[in-house]
Amino acid sequence: MNESASKCILLILCLFEMLNAISGQTPATMVNSGTRPVVLVTNKETPEKGINKLKLKCDVIFPKNHPATREEILELAGQVDGIMWVGHMALNGEVLDRGGERLKAISTMSAGMDYVDIDEFRKRKFPLGYTPIVLNDAVADSAIGLMIAAGRRYHEGRLAIDQSQWKGGPQWLLGQDIKGSTVGIIGMGGIGQTIAKRLKGFDIGQLLYSGRRSKPEAEALGAKMVPQDELLQESDYVFIAVPLTNETYHLINETTLAKMKSTAVLVNVARGDIVDQKALVAALKSGTIFAAGLDVMTPEPLPADDELLSLPNAVVIPHLGSATVQTRNNMAEIAALNVLAGIAKTPMFSPYPY
Ligand code: DGY
Repeated sequence: MNESASKCILLILCLFEMLNAISGQTPATMVNSGTRPVVLVTNKETPEKGINKLKLKCDVIFPKNHPATREEILELAGQVDGIMWVGHMALNGEVLDRGGERLKAISTMSAGMDYVDIDEFRKRKFPLGYTPIVLNDAVADSAIGLMIAAGRRYHEGRLAIDQSQWKGGPQWLLGQDIKGSTVGIIGMGGIGQTIAKRLKGFDIGQLLYSGRRSKPEAEALGAKMVPQDELLQESDYVFIAVPLTNETYHLINETTLAKMKSTAVLVNVARGDIVDQKALVAALKSGTIFAAGLDVMTPEPLPADDELLSLPNAVVIPHLGSATVQTRNNMAEIAALNVLAGIAKTPMFSPYPY
């Protein structure tokens, strides 16, 4: 998905709603003549923008607990017409079974769908929405932040201050340059492309990418498609921006880490399980690679005593990629529109292409 798609998303959102209004196909008028549909929102902290959108057409209910338990969500699933699934709890056939005849549509509030049993939705042709694209900018910003923080040893520097070890001097805490570097992006989808655009301002030397197929959008950004091994061997910075699937599980492991430069920085803004974290910890300790910047890890939440957090060359943040006010508002609105459209049996704003 290109940048203009990302920039136009709000405009399209408005048009989508206007079209619905003009055609009279508003969800509430299409279903339940007389009574309003009911939508379950699985997390009480979901941005109001999305909740208010739902409330225009539906009654909205929430689980009692925060965070909600799976059992209460399953119980409520049978009492509603649609679900806005907020969070990464497994979304599978069990939910659809418990939803029964009444449940018409579900939308997640995420781009990643690794926690969803897509086969089950496909098999049942059950309307499923998600919220890609709108988070590309926020996630790409985070990726660049991690690249700089890890490459320039920010965490190690902070630890030195905390431990009264501020030494200073011309050889202290030297990091890696970005200018002139080779950057590799594994997965040139919307987020990968948005990272590539950000990098244009950094005067990098070469931009490589790997993936299942070449992308004209990537070539237009000056990126060259190479086999993954070549990307790992050549890159000074490696970004992971692929979805987690059976194929990408532990794609970065002891063997692939060994192919990387000892000066390389690994940045993961996708999913923790794409990296074999034990192997990464070993590689960071032994100097197989220089540093890592991680927005995602295994497990999440990461226990405070996890060895990863003890490493000075690992910059670790708690899955904040899409965590900006505007991005989360947009995600909530799109998820709400998806649910409303699904209940109305009209095309979703952002259907998952299963
Ligand atoms: C996503 O949308 O997949 C992000 O990781 C936030 O959940």
